[in-house]
Amino acid sequence: MEIRVERVDPSRRRKRPEDEGKLGFGIYFSDHVFLMDYKDGKGWHNARIEPYGPISLEPSALVLHYGQQVFEGLKAYRRPDGGIQLFRPRDNLRRLNRSARRLCMPEVDVEFTLKALKELISLDQEWVPRTPGASLYIRPTMIATEPALGVKVSPEYLFYIITGPVGAYYPQGFNPTKILVEDRYVRAVRGGIGEAKTCGNYAASLLAMEEAHKKGYTQVLWLDAVYQKYVEEVGTSNIFFLLEDELVTPPLGGSILPGITRDSVIQLARDWWIPVRERLISIDEVVDAIKLGRMKEIFATGTAAVISPVGEISYKGEVYTINQGKVGELSKKLYEELQGIQYGLRPDPHGWIEKVT
Ligand code: COI
Repeated sequence: MEIRVERVDPSRRRKRPEDEGKLGFGIYFSDHVFLMDYKDGKGWHNARIEPYGPISLEPSALVLHYGQQVFEGLKAYRRPDGGIQLFRPRDNLRRLNRSARRLCMPEVDVEFTLKALKELISLDQEWVPRTPGASLYIRPTMIATEPALGVKVSPEYLFYIITGPVGAYYPQGFNPTKILVEDRYVRAVRGGIGEAKTCGNYAASLLAMEEAHKKGYTQVLWLDAVYQKYVEEVGTSNIFFLLEDELVTPPLGGSILPGITRDSVIQLARDWWIPVRERLISIDEVVDAIKLGRMKEIFATGTAAVISPVGEISYKGEVYTINQGKVGELSKKLYEELQGIQYGLRPDPHGWIEKVT
């Protein structure tokens, strides 16, 4: 399929952020967007790159009523030689397709979509930050567009990719976060849509997050929805525990997002001969390990959050400090290695990097 390109008129270029050190997250959007349409019987068509701007939808579009939507999050990084590269983009697009299958939506062609993404980034290459720690966040999204009010699978979709420069996801940057263990609300249950990257999971997390913010916590740690006993994920990221010398993370049981950073961390740890176990871990085990001094580090992982050390967790009114509230050695090493690979500062033994320019 050919991609039609309509460049933004130079007089209508979007204002670029003045200070790359203060980008925040998800505030700025680059000049162009990639879009394509889908119709049953016709497949994907009308691939185009256009100036970023509002999209038009009927108020009855199915996505606005029943949430038939999937999305992804990945980043483009500026290398020291000025070139631009992506981290594991095919894995993100394959996960998009898995999410799409769960939501009865059509899959995209991974190689074509990657080609479109590279073309989009090349066109907006000046938007890729040059400041260490900053990157271009990429948000592929698919929505159901048929105007209809019955609960059903839409025969029409819009797929689009927007991008924008970002800094750290959490305002505290790489400093340890405070996390509240959520024992009232639940995020997802096995057999549901928890492992799909779809808007409903995030909507389900908002109330707990708001309540946690009011109490001074950055995020909530979700427990399983059946027993409210086993640790699942942080909602914006997966979670890891350095228990003595073993790295433990909850298994992908159907209610947890299969994180690409999670998978990369498991691989890096194994490269370094650190034993990694994907197993159920109860919140009581976590608390006991902290009390006994066996919990060396806790950190969250995600594209947006990268590696986010946890300095404090609160459960049933008790507050537990991890590693004296400081960044742990392994969290730091993983952060540096991952960022090193992503920014082209360190070798890429697993072939995770895809060059754009
Ligand atoms: C990401 O890590 O890229 C995500 O999509 C999570 C979102 C909460 C920002």
